[in-house]
Amino acid sequence: MIHLAEKKVDFSRLPKHIAIIMDGNGRWAKKRGLPRSAGHVRGADNFRKIVRYCGEIGISYLTVYAFSTENWSRPQDEVNALMNLLSEYLDRAYKELDDRVRVRIIGERDMLSPELIEKVEALEAYTKDRTGMVLNIALSYGARQEIVHATKSLAKRVENGEMKADEITTEMLNECLYTGDQPDPDLIIRPSGEKRISNFMLWQAAYSEFWYSNVLWPSFKPEHLLDAIAEYQGRNRRFGGV
Ligand code: FPP
Repeated sequence: MIHLAEKKVDFSRLPKHIAIIMDGNGRWAKKRGLPRSAGHVRGADNFRKIVRYCGEIGISYLTVYAFSTENWSRPQDEVNALMNLLSEYLDRAYKELDDRVRVRIIGERDMLSPELIEKVEALEAYTKDRTGMVLNIALSYGARQEIVHATKSLAKRVENGEMKADEITTEMLNECLYTGDQPDPDLIIRPSGEKRISNFMLWQAAYSEFWYSNVLWPSFKPEHLLDAIAEYQGRNRRFGGV
C-alpha cells in the first residue's frame, strides 16, 4: 500500500545516511500509566519496524541512538532493562534482521558487560560482508568521547614518530571516528519535541539537516520518516557555500 506521504518523496534522491535520536519512550509510558521500561520495550519494537522500512526504501546508512554515555547514570533497573533489550535484540538479529543488513555498534564498548561485548562482536562479524544497508547502533555512545578517542589515536601516531602534529587534517580525524569509513548523516531526526543534539554525532553533524517532531518514539511511524525525508528534499543544502 502506498501511503499518502510517499507521494511527496522522490525515491531517486533519498538521503544516503539517516540518523535518529530515539527519544520519548519514558513519556510514552507515563502517559499510559506504565513503567518506563514498558516504553523502552515499545521503543525497541518500533526500532525494528523503522530499520526494516529504511532497508525497504533503500537507505544506505541508518544510525540510531540507543544508549548514551550519560544514560549510565539512570536508575540501575532502567539501565538493566535497556541492556536486556539490547542483548535480546543482538540474539534475535540473526533471524529477524534482513540478511543484507550489516550491523555496527558504535560507542564505548569497554563500558558494556563482557557477555554483551561478545554478542556485539559476534553479530558484527556475522554481518560484516553484507552489502545492503549499514545499521549503526550507538550504544554507550557520546560524541565528545568519540572525538577524544579519535584524538588519542592521532596523538599516538605523533608520539610514535609516524607524523608531525602539524600534519593532522580534518580527514585524518574523521577517519579515526567510529564512522570513519561512512558518509556523514544527511538527515538527523529527533522525535519527542526536544530540539537538541545531546552529544550525538557532533563532528559528523556539521552539515546535517535536522528534523524535529512532537511524536514520541514508540509512536513514530514510517509516514513520519517520509515527512522528514520530504522536508529534507525541499531544503537547499549549501555546505557553507552560496
Ligand atoms: C530515550 O527515551 C530513549 C532511550 C534512552 C533509549 C532508546 C532505546 C530504545 C528505543 C530501545 C533500544 C533497543 C534496541 C533493541 C536498539 P527516554 O527514556 O529518555 O524518554 P523520555 O525523554 O520520555 O523520558
